[in-house]
Amino acid sequence: MTKQSIETYRGYADLPPLVSLHTMREATTVGLSVSQSVERLKRIHWALKQLHKIFVARLTSMPVYEIKMAFSLHAYYCSEHVEDFASRVGEMRQPPHGLDVTPHAALDQMFEEIMAAPDKEALLLGLYEIAVPAVTRALEHLMSDTNRLFDHATYRICRLTLMEWRDVQEYGDEAVRCLVSAEQKTDLQPWLAELNAMLRAAGDLDGREPKSGEEVHRRFSTKPFKYDPVPQRDERFQDPYNMGVNAEAMLFDPEVEPLPKTLMLYFKRMREIDVPEMMASILTEAKDKPWKYYRDMTRQLWDEARHAMMGETGFVSVGIDWKKIPFNFTWSLGLNTKLSAKERHAVLYTIEQGLMPKKTGKEYEWEIAMATTTPLTCLIQDFDWADEVLHARIGREWIVPEIGTQVEAMKFGDEAWTKLLLDWEKWREDGLTEHRNWWPELYQDACRSWGMEPDLKLLAYNTSYESIRADLKEIAVESPFPHGTA
Ligand SMILES: [Fe+2]
Ligand SMILES: [Fe+2]
Ligand SMILES: [Fe+2]
Repeated sequence: MTKQSIETYRGYADLPPLVSLHTMREATTVGLSVSQSVERLKRIHWALKQLHKIFVARLTSMPVYEIKMAFSLHAYYCSEHVEDFASRVGEMRQPPHGLDVTPHAALDQMFEEIMAAPDKEALLLGLYEIAVPAVTRALEHLMSDTNRLFDHATYRICRLTLMEWRDVQEYGDEAVRCLVSAEQKTDLQPWLAELNAMLRAAGDLDGREPKSGEEVHRRFSTKPFKYDPVPQRDERFQDPYNMGVNAEAMLFDPEVEPLPKTLMLYFKRMREIDVPEMMASILTEAKDKPWKYYRDMTRQLWDEARHAMMGETGFVSVGIDWKKIPFNFTWSLGLNTKLSAKERHAVLYTIEQGLMPKKTGKEYEWEIAMATTTPLTCLIQDFDWADEVLHARIGREWIVPEIGTQVEAMKFGDEAWTKLLLDWEKWREDGLTEHRNWWPELYQDACRSWGMEPDLKLLAYNTSYESIRADLKEIAVESPFPHGTA
């Protein structure tokens, strides 16, 4: 075949050859070997794993709500793609695949530096200006360097990953634009340059460049990273110890008409911010689990973040300023600081199993939503319930075998739960909160938006969590922590 005929080569009746993956010219000239492709896949796999770790470990102490939510999504994307890249390596090579082996020390230094970033500004810059673009570069190069026909599965996972990865980059760019000042950026330039030097020392993230051989220096990661289990929220979240309004007691009261209950449903959903804050601690402390464990748990973590944003959507739809409502963080704070990871997971499991019965569970909440006849509330509760089915399964798969039988796991979870004394009165004495009853104001605001007069009896609603916990068991001497959602 002459050179000319490669350029003009076509299929039957002028059909494009090679299913349009390549022109014949490209197909005959482009390509990496299997070992080159595997090496790059392993590096990307490693990078996604490290990024997953950072997004999760920095989520609890990340004060900005939107970034907490973004970290949940970005961690979830990483967890899915780690699996894809590992599988592709496994398709091409016999084990051992060496997927748990650091590809290059300088690469680890870069991720450890970002993990240890001293504040949110440095963290955002390290993530979204250095690490995330380095992954994008690696994906783009692998797609253009490997042969789309010979190494099609690699090409495909890079292409699909890149689609989501560009969203990660886009949101990251916005986060930097909104939260990092020009001055802060200038101050951090030397550190960012050091991170770039680390990448060069590793031959870039994917190892395709020659290793620079330059010396690199740690700035923030000279000591091992210590996870901060104390949840932080931004200044819009006021009065985090407030447990002055018992949402469940109203929801389960048949005397109360459905429409005002939407507000309690939105409240319960948005309060679910505390679940990612807590799950991040389990994930960060869980060592040497199969990747499927991290993937399943991160999926759930992201679902819980979605539920919080579903609640936020609900409030905005009725024109409610949710900043007036205290979303307490006492559940994630208590679990993260007083229980072991196994106990925390068991508590989560016990709560989620408790959401299955019809009387006080997800189905009942959905029925309330249906009775309100507001389509958005129905949709929120529809998916809140659906997600819970998956979460109960994730619990059955991972925490139950760690403890024994399902009954033993529930018992273990319940006992762990009772370890957390509700310091309702003490928080007030200590001046942490007044347990202000925020219901009347919220209800009045909503009534204005609905164009209706408040029902005076409902306006006077004043039931706190002092003596009734969220699953409606009377609080005993050793009171389990009130929290009805997970
Ligand atoms: Fe939920
Ligand atoms: Fe939940
Ligand atoms: Fe859940």
